Amino acid sequence: MAKHSSTFRIGGDLEIHRLGFGAMRITGKGIWGPPADRAGALATLRRVPELGIDFIDTANSYGPHVSEELIREALYPYTDVVIATKGGLERSGPDVWTQNGNPSHLVSEAHASRERLGVDRISLWQLHRIDSRVPRDEQFDAVRLLLDDGVIEHAGLSEVTVEQIAAASQVFPVATVQNRYNFADRGSEDVLDYCEAHGIGFIPWYPLAAGELTREGTAALDAIAHAHGATPSQVAVAWLLQRSPVIIPIPGTSKVPHLEENAKARDIELTVEEFDRLDRIGRTPGHG
Ligand SMILES: NC(=O)c1ccc[n+]([C@@H]2O[C@H](COP(=O)([O-])OP(=O)(O)OC[C@H]3O[C@@H](n4cnc5c(N)ncnc54)[C@H](OP(=O)(O)O)[C@@H]3O)[C@@H](O)[C@H]2O)c1
Repeated sequence: MAKHSSTFRIGGDLEIHRLGFGAMRITGKGIWGPPADRAGALATLRRVPELGIDFIDTANSYGPHVSEELIREALYPYTDVVIATKGGLERSGPDVWTQNGNPSHLVSEAHASRERLGVDRISLWQLHRIDSRVPRDEQFDAVRLLLDDGVIEHAGLSEVTVEQIAAASQVFPVATVQNRYNFADRGSEDVLDYCEAHGIGFIPWYPLAAGELTREGTAALDAIAHAHGATPSQVAVAWLLQRSPVIIPIPGTSKVPHLEENAKARDIELTVEEFDRLDRIGRTPGHG
């Protein structure tokens, strides 16, 4: 475990700080409709760059459209922040996610996100899912088209295997991969290793296990948090930052105090022993 740079260059040239913000939670319940506390959601977004966080992850399906619209309202023209969005999942109701990898749909959705965000070019656009009902090369060709047409600057994937990243890389440069991952949820370990070897940004979603890792109860996490005068969620994020130089955690919240708490994870440096203890727990079969 080495001390890593606090920044990462997406696609080799777009430099961002490695602790980002996930903007899925600023929508309504079930990631549907407007947030219950609209002013709170806008305040949370405005606080992001003030805390030196310059990478925000969203998707056209969060709301749908609500997250992208609030980001624009709060932060346009994005002087100090890079907005990454996604397409390829549709929403028809609370907690309902439907894949749609139809190539023309992907292209039109990326154009619509660009419009909604009010940018000339989307800095990073990620294929939210590879739709199993559509030939994957057709979906990859659509991403290639978006890059070639200048609609998007960099492209990424989400919830993919090493084999799928390698296949996509034949068609376009894969700048980022977004898979579910945290110290207690290590199903994507091989994908992370692949990303590190190839300089691909790895964006672990569910970094706090949707709040689970913020509660007390994981004894090792609690003990380490106590030793640092920190919270369990801060330790969970600090572990991610120390796990690999290509990891860009994006803890999500709709609340300013939670955002401020999560941002302090950057200041925590786990000892080798602490890092390894959490690493071992996460790798133990049956854990998490
Ligand atoms: N690619 C994909 O398929 C995919 C899937 C899911 C998510 N994502 C992205 O990943 C981001 C993060 O994932 P996530 O939101 O599912 O999970 P998460 O970041 O692990 O957890 C977010 C949850 O934890 C709570 N929380 C956050 N900070 C807290 C704190 N300091 N104290 C107490 N509670 C706290 C939040 O509630 P409060 O609002 O009450 O703080 C929210 O319910 C999303 O925002 C989204 O951008 C991507």
